[in-house]
Amino acid sequence: MKNVGVTKKYYFIPGHRWKLSFAELVNFFYNSRVEFNVITANYLFFLVEVSSDGWIENIDLGGIRKFGRILGNTDHPSKLVELVNGYLQSVVVSKIRFGVSIYSIRKNTRSSYRMKENLEGHIKSSLEEHNIKASYVGHLNQLETSTVVYDKKIRNKGFELAVLLDKGDCYLAECLWVHNYKKNRNFEYRRPAFDKRSGMLPVKLSKIMVNLAQSGNIQTIWDPFCGSGTILMVAVDNGYNVIGSDDSLQAINDTKDNIHWIIEKGYLGKRWEDKTSTRDTLEKYVLIQKANVNEMKSVYNEFGNVIRENIAIVFEPYLGPIVKRPLNDRRYKEVSTKVFNILNTALNKIYYIARRRKKSISSLCFVVPIYKTMKGYQSPSFKVMLRKFQGIGFGYPNAVKRLSTFTDETDITWYDKNSLIRRKIIVLHRKAVT
Ligand SMILES: C[S@@+](CC[C@H](N)C(=O)[O-])C[C@H]1O[C@@H](n2cnc3c(N)ncnc32)[C@H](O)[C@@H]1O
Repeated sequence: MKNVGVTKKYYFIPGHRWKLSFAELVNFFYNSRVEFNVITANYLFFLVEVSSDGWIENIDLGGIRKFGRILGNTDHPSKLVELVNGYLQSVVVSKIRFGVSIYSIRKNTRSSYRMKENLEGHIKSSLEEHNIKASYVGHLNQLETSTVVYDKKIRNKGFELAVLLDKGDCYLAECLWVHNYKKNRNFEYRRPAFDKRSGMLPVKLSKIMVNLAQSGNIQTIWDPFCGSGTILMVAVDNGYNVIGSDDSLQAINDTKDNIHWIIEKGYLGKRWEDKTSTRDTLEKYVLIQKANVNEMKSVYNEFGNVIRENIAIVFEPYLGPIVKRPLNDRRYKEVSTKVFNILNTALNKIYYIARRRKKSISSLCFVVPIYKTMKGYQSPSFKVMLRKFQGIGFGYPNAVKRLSTFTDETDITWYDKNSLIRRKIIVLHRKAVT
């Protein structure tokens, strides 16, 4: 592994599809031009050494639930107390709340609970010996306190320590950031418009996809199947110019309503700070129009000059009718042919725009549906189309390739255990064009 200059180590707790989270995080580091080295990555946590910490204030990833700084490591859990004692010397208030989370890939839950209780007891009594009134948060049956950390704002009024147990190493860490799960919930359930019929992409996945599409200097996100606009809401929140198109007028109206709601609620990313927040001005950066994917070239030609370059196309295409049971051969053929034709048309249009205007499209991140059928999971193949994109300089980003160091497959898929449709995520970045 390569050597990274002066380093600090950080831990990251991924969401439930850790390979997607890993690719998102690594792409963030590549794109922020931060030197880094992944020490370990598994379904519970990632350990990364990083050469600087300027990235901390810019990080906002859909697939990371929590991150923090490693304070030290030992070869045996019994020595953790020494590390904890070292940390407690920095606590100089009279009253404090704290939490302890344990992440163990050894899966010995009973000993993890014991370790958590012991550490909490030790921290409380050590602080009280120094006349610091300390109370711990969390539920007895919970090894992880991140939601409590967020709700009770421990980060502002106390601390949260994490213990990470890898194969031979025990790490003690201090939490620096917890994801804003309430905001994701607001985006999902409080927005004015929903499209229950054609489905909504989860907000976290939309965020992961927008982040995976990051490559060079992306200014604009275009979703050509925008539905009720989940991807575009996330993109506006992250400060991008956005373009939404969809074949359905209802979808266009829903997307407009949702984006206006975002703007009115003031959910505007840092990149928008230099732009005034009046509705009229913002509308300059938001283009939503009804168009079938057949018409993508004319949509592109109508863009203003500002957003004709460095576009990332991020989308979930039409996924077929709602399915209630695994598909039989005939039904799978019907559904997948229709889905294939629409997605292939979109990819062809994108290909022609990208081939003619070398600086127009910098990246693509899209969903390919995988259906549960009587014969197992199956999905339409886009190999031929992907080869065409490779012919004009697109390829899988390093962030996706890096997964192969830690797991034997580099496919990144989002799914719930019992869902009949899984979402395979395809990411293509274009090599820098000068
Ligand atoms: C699965 S939904 C996208 C959902 C969206 N990601 C969201 O979270 O709201 C697919 C969308 O594709 C649109 N669509 C279907 N066929 C289309 C076509 N040929 N051209 C453009 N849009 C199409 C549908 O109207 C629908 O809104």
